[in-house]
Amino acid sequence: MSNDTQFTLANLIKQQIRQNPRQRITFAEFMEMALYHPELGYYSSRAGNLGKEGDFFTSVHLGADFGEMIANQLLEMWEILQRPANFTLVEIGAGQGLLALDILKYLQAKHEDCFAATKYTIIEQSPKLQREQQQRLQGWSVTWCDLGEIPENSLVGCIFSNELVDALPVHQFAIASGEVQEIFVSVRENPGVKGGFEFVEVMDDPSTPELVNYLQSFGFDISNFPDGYRSEINLAARDWLGNVSRCLQQGYVITIDYGYPGHRYYNPRRTTGTLQCYFRHQRHNNPYINVGYQDITSHVNFTALEKWGEQYQLQTLGFTQQALFLMALGLGDRLVQLPYTNLPTMEVLQRRDYLQQLIDPMGLGGFGVLIQGKNVPNQLPTGLKQPSNP
Ligand SMILES: C[S@@+](CC[C@H](N)C(=O)[O-])C[C@H]1O[C@@H](n2cnc3c(N)ncnc32)[C@H](O)[C@@H]1O
Repeated sequence: MSNDTQFTLANLIKQQIRQNPRQRITFAEFMEMALYHPELGYYSSRAGNLGKEGDFFTSVHLGADFGEMIANQLLEMWEILQRPANFTLVEIGAGQGLLALDILKYLQAKHEDCFAATKYTIIEQSPKLQREQQQRLQGWSVTWCDLGEIPENSLVGCIFSNELVDALPVHQFAIASGEVQEIFVSVRENPGVKGGFEFVEVMDDPSTPELVNYLQSFGFDISNFPDGYRSEINLAARDWLGNVSRCLQQGYVITIDYGYPGHRYYNPRRTTGTLQCYFRHQRHNNPYINVGYQDITSHVNFTALEKWGEQYQLQTLGFTQQALFLMALGLGDRLVQLPYTNLPTMEVLQRRDYLQQLIDPMGLGGFGVLIQGKNVPNQLPTGLKQPSNP
């Protein structure tokens, strides 16, 4: 893609701002366009850039083990639900389709009865990634649709995602003179910069009372936040979770992502929020450069997902770290058995490295795993069982 195209997306956002009577848009609107504009957003146009060669990689890029251990968790859920003849797996935000392929291959090879009952559906916002998924999953029985198309209370199964919620557009706020102010995005002409303009932040009263309501509903006393404190609020996650629950008649929701419980997320000492951008494996915090060329994410407040879930009849079954989740699902045994496989030495070393990355507490192992259930029997999924909680 040429630089001209890059400036086209920035120009489109500029136009949107100029059309607004107040010459500004919310940060959530900016992030929505930067990531999901149907032709020029990061996920629409630069989708090929996920993975080891791209801007960032996720657990699914570290071999098939991650998907296989998740498949084992899904298999157990199928058994807990008394082996339903139609067991629907819905993956939301499936990226390049790697996790889907690993899960389906494993179930077909090792658990044919569960595989025969499984209906795999993908919900994917990016048309380009959807095409890539369709190519990768050719020959497998997978369907694609919008979440809104799934009829109410129609599914028995599991709805799951890996690094989806961190990619939903967030509002940003800051504390000024003890009050919550929203951070909006505006433009300033500047002949000294490429393109002749730059995006600038302006603060004003929030565009919606939901921002203050959100902080109050989690019991945060705004007066504890120092002036200049800033952070993010993911209201889109609430609507997403409501929609997810609406589809489920009986089953589970597994959400894997980086994030914290609310009290850590909104710790008054974390004064600069959690917003991060990824550009060619470099992490920085300026969302106003490389527009359409870089990923923008913010950590997930898992307490919010738990609380909203309960409002939508999703019971929190447990929250754990990815390292503990995968260890409970047999990652330790996989490490021990590695030297006894017939793989060439270099492959053994690479797989060991990948398995260790999946549980590295400073990296992917520190991710959160939340499992919620709707109308499910009272049995803890194995991924949530810890040595002290068998
Ligand atoms: C960070 S990527 C993660 C991809 C993949 N799950 C992985 O682990 O590699 C986020 C994915 O979510 C998709 N996405 C974002 N918002 C979405 C939404 N509202 N509905 C469906 N997919 C969405 C993106 O297009 C992309 O495929």
